[in-house]
Amino acid sequence: MLNYWFLYQTKVCRFMARSAFYQAGGAYGFRDQLQDCLALVMIDPALVRTHIIRASGRQFREGDVQHWWHPPTGRGVRTRISDDLLWLPYVLSHYLTVTEDTGILDEQTPFLEGEAVPAGHEDAYFEPVVSAETASLFEHCARALDLRLATGGHGLPLMGTGDWNDGMNRVGDKGQGESVWLGWFLHAALSRFAPVAAERGEGERAEKWRAHAHRLLEALEMEAWDGTWYRRAYYDDGTPLGSAGNSECRIDSIAQSWAVISGAANHERAVRAMKAVEEYLVRPGEDQILLFTPPFDKSPRDPGYIKGYLPGIRENGGQYTHAAAWCVIAFAMLNNGDKAHELFTMLNPLTHGSTRSGVHRFRVEPYVAVADVYSEPPHTGRGGWSWYTGSAGWLYQAGIEHILGFAVQGTYLRLDPCIPSAWRVFDITYRHGTARYEIAVTNPNGVMRGIAGLELDGEPLPVAEKRVPLQDDGRKHVVRLIMGSAVA
Ligand code: GLC
Repeated sequence: MLNYWFLYQTKVCRFMARSAFYQAGGAYGFRDQLQDCLALVMIDPALVRTHIIRASGRQFREGDVQHWWHPPTGRGVRTRISDDLLWLPYVLSHYLTVTEDTGILDEQTPFLEGEAVPAGHEDAYFEPVVSAETASLFEHCARALDLRLATGGHGLPLMGTGDWNDGMNRVGDKGQGESVWLGWFLHAALSRFAPVAAERGEGERAEKWRAHAHRLLEALEMEAWDGTWYRRAYYDDGTPLGSAGNSECRIDSIAQSWAVISGAANHERAVRAMKAVEEYLVRPGEDQILLFTPPFDKSPRDPGYIKGYLPGIRENGGQYTHAAAWCVIAFAMLNNGDKAHELFTMLNPLTHGSTRSGVHRFRVEPYVAVADVYSEPPHTGRGGWSWYTGSAGWLYQAGIEHILGFAVQGTYLRLDPCIPSAWRVFDITYRHGTARYEIAVTNPNGVMRGIAGLELDGEPLPVAEKRVPLQDDGRKHVVRLIMGSAVA
């Protein structure tokens, strides 16, 4: 799955065709293909470079972006969805870590011009005009970040007509509702992009973004902690969502996983929150990790069109695999390789297709990541929307970068596995240009993370750096990594 199918799905179906059985669309989703870039950048940095530049040109002068657009005309939809634009700086900073191609920041691209979303409407579909004004990619990112610094009554970012969860479009549509998930994500985007600004001599901006991230974190810890997990959002009228007091959507996974992925949350709370994910959202018997629970059904509140899905279907409290992959990553980031691998296995399509009864339950291609797995009878365990979501790209990242711990960073290979304690060995063969790296990892003491020894071609390397220099020299190199608890 890691060497072939997840990448195939991401590149061929999501990136190039942008179309599959369940959604024959052909459009670029602003946040969608940018997230796919995160998975593809080590494999195909040129493709990612082109796409980041392409996406920046879909930003309006005001800083917001098209939620999706159709090439070649560029006709698409302008919305008040709050997270889309932030994926540009978030993904760009990751691209810079992998490639060190800082030249991309000076690429000039235009803006879009067009009518604002009319009052009382959620969106406007039209073909925007491409402006004569251009700006560097750095400026595009800055405009995106600056637009999201506005906060609501709890000091959290405004949710608008939806954040990552498209279906929660009426939690904050009056302009007051706030998103906790977006708080974590914005924190991540600000703190990853601030160093990029500092490096360019934009110290003032770096400072402003860092200061905002700091205030945001205070607000998240003060206002979003529910006692055992983080809340998901506040409605326009200040009512919490994703709280123990809610009868529906009491706990939502993405507010927990991103507490960890952002690297910002208080550690004890983050551990407790992921424990709650395990207790309430992971269903080992059914190999499912729910997005939230219980699904929306009878309560009078109207979070948005998500409620139009039957309980347990798609975003309405089913397994939404894209978000489930974030749980795998979060457990790995908490150094729990056993749990990360256990959850990865649940999400792996091969698990669902490995028995005759599994095939009949799952019903979709057993080598394709599905968008969702339905969680309520009579459809429990049935896969839906195969091929077409960010699930493949995030599962790829979860497996390669977070479990196997393999990441390219400029002219280095960073190696920092977080594996199940029962694994004794694994190997990776990596081709770097004309060179070939044969990496053998052993785990003699059954740890989940930690490096006790690292060697390149028989020479020891400092273990604390967790990295191996890469050379495109046509040779074969042998890397040995011995896991153990000896090192911090
Ligand atoms: C779909 C959309 C994506 C969105 C997700 C959750 O995968 O393409 O943009 O974030 O659903 O609603």
